[in-house]
Amino acid sequence: MKTLVLRVDPEHPDPEKVELAARKLREGGLVAFPTETVYGLGADALNPRAVLSLFEAKRRPLDNPPIVHVGEREEIHALAKEVPPEAEELVKRFWPGPLTLVLKKSPSVPSVTTCGLETIALRMPRHEVALALIRRSRTPVAAPSANLAGRPSPTRAEHVLQDLEGRIDLILDGGPTQVGVESTVLDLTVDPPQILRPGGTPPEALEEVLGRVTLHPSAVAEREVEVEKARSPGMKHRHYAPNAELLVVEGEPSAVAEKMAELAGELRRQGKRVGILATQETLLRCPAEVASSLGSRDNLEEVARRLFGALRELEAKGVEVILAEGVPLRGLGVAVMNRLRKASGYRIVKAPAP
Ligand code: TXA
Ligand code: MG
Repeated sequence: MKTLVLRVDPEHPDPEKVELAARKLREGGLVAFPTETVYGLGADALNPRAVLSLFEAKRRPLDNPPIVHVGEREEIHALAKEVPPEAEELVKRFWPGPLTLVLKKSPSVPSVTTCGLETIALRMPRHEVALALIRRSRTPVAAPSANLAGRPSPTRAEHVLQDLEGRIDLILDGGPTQVGVESTVLDLTVDPPQILRPGGTPPEALEEVLGRVTLHPSAVAEREVEVEKARSPGMKHRHYAPNAELLVVEGEPSAVAEKMAELAGELRRQGKRVGILATQETLLRCPAEVASSLGSRDNLEEVARRLFGALRELEAKGVEVILAEGVPLRGLGVAVMNRLRKASGYRIVKAPAP
C-alpha cells in the first residue's frame, strides 16, 4: 500500500483534501490526522472491519480499545447509553479539547470498537483539521495515536511516516501538534470520577469542576501496579518505549543535574552511548555530547509539547541509554511523569538532596 501525504493548513485546511481523506474513511480506509495533542490514526468507528484493520496497522493488542472522536458535542448522546450531569458539565467546559470521557456505551457501537467492554472512551478534539475530517466523514472516528504499538506517540507527520509508511492510506500533515501529550482519560462510570491516564487537561482543572477526582494508582506509580483489566485496558501494556534503555532521574534540580552528570560519566566509562533528555536549566549544568532539550523547567506546557519528539530525536542518534530528568508532579507535569516512568519500565533514580 502506498501512503499518500497531503499537507494542509492547520487552521484553514483545504476542503478538497479533507473531502478526499473523509472519503477514504467512509470506504473503510485508515487516515492519520493531527489533533491538538498528538496525531491520531482514524477509522470509521461504526465499521468493524475498518476498526480491525486499525489494530493490524498499529500492531496493537486486541484488548486495548481506541478513543472514539466526535465532531460535535451532541454526539455524546448517540454513542453513550447514559450521560450523567458531570459529563454534560465537562463537555460544556472542556470540549473541544484534550479530555476523553469514559461512559457506558450505547448498543449502536460495534463491540470491536470497544474491545468488548461495556464502556466507551469519547472525545472531541480541538483542531480544525481533525474537526473538518470527522464532520465531513459523517461518522464517529476511532483514533488511537498514530504510532506502532509501544512507540512514542507522533507529534509530527514525519513521526507517523517513520512508524506507519506503507501500512495506512493517507496522512493529513498539519504541522507539529500543540499539546504534545495525549488527552486525559477520565472514567465517569465510578464515583468519584477517576483519571485513568493523565494528559493534556491537568488534574487541577478537573478538580475545579468536579470537586473530588482520584488518580488511578498506576498513573504516576513508581513501580508496576496490578491493574484491573476491565477498567483500565491500556495500562498493562508497555507504552512509549523508545529503542533505548531509559532511566528517570528525580529530585531537586541541582541534585538532578549532579546525579545525571555522575551517571553519564559512569555509563560512558562502561562504553555505553548516552543521551540526555533534560530541561534547558539542567543541560547548562550537565553538558552532554548527545542531548535533547525539553525547554524551560518553568514551562511544563513546553516540556509536554517537546517530550515525544525529543525521545525520537535521541533514538535517531543511536544512543543506548537515555537519562531523563523528572519534572514536578503538577499541571502537565503529571502527564509527563506518567509517560517517562512508564517508558523507563520504572527504572527511577532518586537524586539525594544536597
Ligand atoms: O490525545 C489522545 O487521546 C490521542 C489523540 C489521537 O486523540 N489518542 C490516543 O488514543 O491517545 P490511544 O488509543 O493511543 O489511547 C487511548 C487510551 C488508552 O489508554 C485506552 O486504554 C483508553 O484510552 N481507553 C479506551 N477505551 C477505554 C474504555 N472503554 N475504558 C477505559 N479506558 C479506555
Ligand atoms: Mg497511544
